[in-house]
Amino acid sequence: MTSILMVCLGNICRSPLAHGILESKLDADNFYVDCAGTADYHVNHSPDHRSIRVASENGIDISNQRGRQFNVSDFDSFDHIFVMDESNYDDVIKLARNKNDINKVKLILDNIPSENSKVVPDPYHGDYSDFRKVFKTLNEACDLIVEQIQHS
Ligand code: 4NP
Repeated sequence: MTSILMVCLGNICRSPLAHGILESKLDADNFYVDCAGTADYHVNHSPDHRSIRVASENGIDISNQRGRQFNVSDFDSFDHIFVMDESNYDDVIKLARNKNDINKVKLILDNIPSENSKVVPDPYHGDYSDFRKVFKTLNEACDLIVEQIQHS
């Protein structure tokens, strides 16, 4: 079993989408996907209604997800940890205990050649079109992750 964790700040906009998208592309017998936030603002909350909507418009149901905060034991539970932006990266790396923990953490857009920016912008204060953009970006990123993980 390979396990992958998606991390953002609030765990209600970006990482629930990344979780749902990646899960929809992988075989559940061999891959476990989850998500978490670096902050505790939305523990036990449902994803933002706009993330639920854009996922649903693309055939993915994320409405059953509930927010949780990233914690140090996630370094033991997950093989790969993908973060959305540099501030998520710094917050996760602060909790790393060793080089092995550090090596698990990557910016999710790091390997996407078509992206000018290496960060997935936080759409929380934006409008629905920002959620559509985030979905498209994460969908591309997840296609690449699937390719890389299945050939590793
Ligand atoms: P996310 O977006 O990190 O993509 O889930 C946010 C959601 C909520 C907040 C910040 C970012 N907040 O401050 O409540």
